[in-house]
Amino acid sequence: MGSSEELEYLKSLVAQLNEKIHALEAKVQSPSRPKPKTPAQQLRTILIGPPGAGKGTQAPRIREEFCVCHLATGDMLREQVQQKTSLGMEAKKIMDAGGLVPDEIMVGMIKDQLQNNKQCKNGFVLDGFPRTVPQAQKLDEMLQSRNEKLDSVVQLQIDDQLLISRITGRLIHPSSGRTYHKEFNPPKKPMMDDVTGEPLIQRSDDNVETLRKRLGSFHNQTGPVVEYYKKQGLWHGIDAAQSPSVVWDSLRKVFVGKQ
Ligand code: AP5
Repeated sequence: MGSSEELEYLKSLVAQLNEKIHALEAKVQSPSRPKPKTPAQQLRTILIGPPGAGKGTQAPRIREEFCVCHLATGDMLREQVQQKTSLGMEAKKIMDAGGLVPDEIMVGMIKDQLQNNKQCKNGFVLDGFPRTVPQAQKLDEMLQSRNEKLDSVVQLQIDDQLLISRITGRLIHPSSGRTYHKEFNPPKKPMMDDVTGEPLIQRSDDNVETLRKRLGSFHNQTGPVVEYYKKQGLWHGIDAAQSPSVVWDSLRKVFVGKQ
């Protein structure tokens, strides 16, 4: 190859490399890719919804994308049950009966997490709290004393009839909290966790009889919480009967609009 041919060849090689670099840069800077969060982009939100609405399915995605902590009071109580603490033993009876654990216990749990959980520094997503107006009032007091405000309260709206199949088909990997569904999101091997291969379980309160009582508690005691936040102008309702990815898109629109 002569010198001028070699020069042309090297030039075309450089041009190809530049093109590839630009394509990769565009991919890295694509708007669909979540940007790293800074303290200025804090998010403090609450997911409200009946049993099976999808709070536990969506909250981990909020945690990942917005770098906030996910505080799920039901999971905290189940941890106490697993550790066989006296609180856990008392809570199990109430949970299996579809009732609500006393407000002061639940408020204490959230207060402790907000004070001591370092992952809550950039904000939080609350899943299952507040469930009563007194819990919502106590949360307001806690946030006021920290000079913090809620950004949004999102209600996952869905008809009760659709929840029976979601709840009775739910499968859980206890140590990670990973959730499956026998029909809508089955594990690769029946009753086995995809990641660890460990057995999956059904929650003791995931049966039709207890579900009816849990739905009663939701409508009677958590319904007024929705009104409480509507008055504060924080409430957003989204259709939770859609597929998980459509629900996620709706949630994201609420949060991104707030930032
Ligand atoms: P808790 O654990 O909070 O239960 P819950 O509110 O009844 O909610 P779930 O966990 O059953 O439903 P979820 O909305 O998270 O649904 P998921 O995403 O898993 O509380 C349990 C108990 O603890 C209470 O009853 C009470 O006794 C006590 N307690 C807790 N907090 C308290 C408080 N603050 N005060 C007093 N007592 C308290 O989805 C369910 C299934 O559906 C899954 O299998 C999932 O794969 C599937 N699914 C989810 N989304 C979709 C979709 N879009 N399409 C199809 N399937 C879907």
